[in-house]
Amino acid sequence: MANDKKSVIDQKVDSLLSLMTLEEKIGQMNQYNGFMDFTGPVPNEEDIERKFEHIKKGYVGSILNVRGVEEIRAVQKIAVEQSRLGIPLIFGFDVIHGYQTMSPIPLAEAASWDLKAIKESARLAAKEAAAAGINWTFAPMVDISRDARWGRVMEGAGEDPYLGSKIATARVKGFQGDDLSDKESIIACAKHFAAYGFPESGREYNNADLGTSTLYNVVLPPFQAANSAGVRTFMNSFNQLNGIPATANSFLLRDILKEKWSFDGFVVSDWGSVAELIPHGYARDASIASKLAVNAGTDMDMESYFYLNELVKLVNDDQVNTSTINDAVRRILKVKFELGLFDNPYKYCDKNLEKKIIGSTEIASGALDMALKSVVLLKNENQTLPLKKKGQKVLLVGALASDKDSPLGNWRAAAIENSAVSILEGMQQYDENLIYSKGPELILGKTEFAKEVQINTQDRFGMKEAIQAAKDVDVVVMVLGEHGLQSGEGRSRSRLDLPGLQQELLEKVFKVNRNIVLVLNNGRPLAIPWAKKNIPAIVEAWQLGSQSGNAVAQVLYGDYNPSGKLPMTFPISIGQVPIYYNHKSTGRPNLPSADFVFWSHYQDESNEPLWAFGHGLSYSKFEYTDLKVVNNYSTNGIVKVELTLTNNSNRKGKEVVQLYLKDKFSKVVRPVKELKGFQLIELAPNTSIQVKFELADRELGFYDNEGKWFIEQGDFEVYVGGSSSTDLSRSFKLLN
Ligand code: BGC
Repeated sequence: MANDKKSVIDQKVDSLLSLMTLEEKIGQMNQYNGFMDFTGPVPNEEDIERKFEHIKKGYVGSILNVRGVEEIRAVQKIAVEQSRLGIPLIFGFDVIHGYQTMSPIPLAEAASWDLKAIKESARLAAKEAAAAGINWTFAPMVDISRDARWGRVMEGAGEDPYLGSKIATARVKGFQGDDLSDKESIIACAKHFAAYGFPESGREYNNADLGTSTLYNVVLPPFQAANSAGVRTFMNSFNQLNGIPATANSFLLRDILKEKWSFDGFVVSDWGSVAELIPHGYARDASIASKLAVNAGTDMDMESYFYLNELVKLVNDDQVNTSTINDAVRRILKVKFELGLFDNPYKYCDKNLEKKIIGSTEIASGALDMALKSVVLLKNENQTLPLKKKGQKVLLVGALASDKDSPLGNWRAAAIENSAVSILEGMQQYDENLIYSKGPELILGKTEFAKEVQINTQDRFGMKEAIQAAKDVDVVVMVLGEHGLQSGEGRSRSRLDLPGLQQELLEKVFKVNRNIVLVLNNGRPLAIPWAKKNIPAIVEAWQLGSQSGNAVAQVLYGDYNPSGKLPMTFPISIGQVPIYYNHKSTGRPNLPSADFVFWSHYQDESNEPLWAFGHGLSYSKFEYTDLKVVNNYSTNGIVKVELTLTNNSNRKGKEVVQLYLKDKFSKVVRPVKELKGFQLIELAPNTSIQVKFELADRELGFYDNEGKWFIEQGDFEVYVGGSSSTDLSRSFKLLN
């Protein structure tokens, strides 16, 4: 935003602030859940009445979970017309992977490594949500995670801070657009600040104990990138970080976010997280919790009611400074001005637009494009894929194959139930003779957002029929994995296998027909070593959203050449978790001689992953040659890396060329490899291209344990290839 526009807004904020009573100021810091129950307890009737009363009194700054132009207009009208100062509300909603039209889950989108597509996906989600009256999304979630047990890995960009930072930037820019006063822009929220992705043992809401090296180099960079991209809000996280709950963590919120990074938007708590300071064992009561949270820098209280009930007294008793309150309110009002809500509080309330945009073909085709780009081809032996469009008898198996709900993923409160194109429907468009045999059910009963998913572990009805059907077909496509509501918030798992009876089904079908294409639907990495060893073709299709079946069918039948790459390591077994490619070495990394035990390993499992970070195949065949380093660091601060990429096939295809760096000896030990560059390149059949990277201080340095950026002189190794397991490398020396 231009500086003069900014300072005009600052003046307006100041003059409005001078008119406000203490109660009205604190009102701006209060966010209520609307009249639904998505992520917390259901409000009762009395609660609703009180909320309306509070809006009239100016005691509410924001509402979440109210949606639709009519509802939002009605609630906004109360704030604007009936409260003393008429300050408009901001309406928040979890637009995490689409609003009504669902795009792939964020982890799947990350697998595209296609920043333009990811930005566009966020832009379209913002456009659809804005048309429904929403002006604030609680996204992107930029939590790095290395633990596939944690259910919310589906909501982030995976395990890597470099990829995660690029994606954070793309998403923030997509949601917020170039101009916040535009009708299609909504404000974004970088969450959950910080280290929510590192819960001990992968268990939801569990605490994080992290060293400074990981905090500065892995956890914080995507948040910093979101801030640099201009994100207007941050949300704090439920967890403790090294014993201090994030909601009351002034090191995170004040020292780093607001001071070091000069963040000038506002911080919202997570749902009830101010109140959770009590069960954390950090605050004795509501008053102390409020004091700790506000002083630490949490500007808005989501649905704890603590700020509203406690802050007036705390200020009057000199426990909280008026300047702290003023700073929080200034931040909130400023964002409301930036959004243009004071000029037109009904800016997002256009019924015609709502009708025109929501579910439009523009949004649907964007969701299809993103879904295609998110698919990862994990294995393809004997050219099992693509399927032939004619002359092949195909059997489709699996409850997930006909499921029209699961592909919608987890955050889909505004989606229409059962509205996804199923894989069955998608494939039927290619093959009218397609045979479908469901096999046993995956889940029992109806799924609900806040309820545990019941997995079928007993009822084998359908198993025999599927096995029988598999006997006389050319190829069996099996869609197996997790239901869309098996990942997400509150959905940690202690096993990473195919849930329920699916492994049994897979093995039994395999006994009668080995020509299987396994299509995975899942919201996290799975540990499926048997499938990797035995099944000739495996496609990672995540939960791909509303257009799931169309995208999967296009890939299976070869109309789309897949180019996705894994944004998270897949383990062989759960005991390896957390397993991630950018780990540090140990003093004993290698087996010195056969059978010797004293090295860093398991006696019953390899150290290798099932599939490495960055892995993904194509129907084309790519080769990397001529890797060269031109080291001009001592003259112009730049190390150039060049290579030749060749498409050695008769198919046009795309490849994500990845560059990894190893700083060999360092004052704080660096990982064995770190992603420091990537390029998505499309190549015509049988052609080559020279690919160039430039490494400068931003790629070559790291944060030391004091949080200072540091460039180490000395030996480096650069690796280039199609996944993190590449060993094509060159070394170079950095000298000043
Ligand atoms: C989640 C947030 C979400 C909020 C509002 C919380 O339970 O942790 O990510 O934005 O609910 O729905």
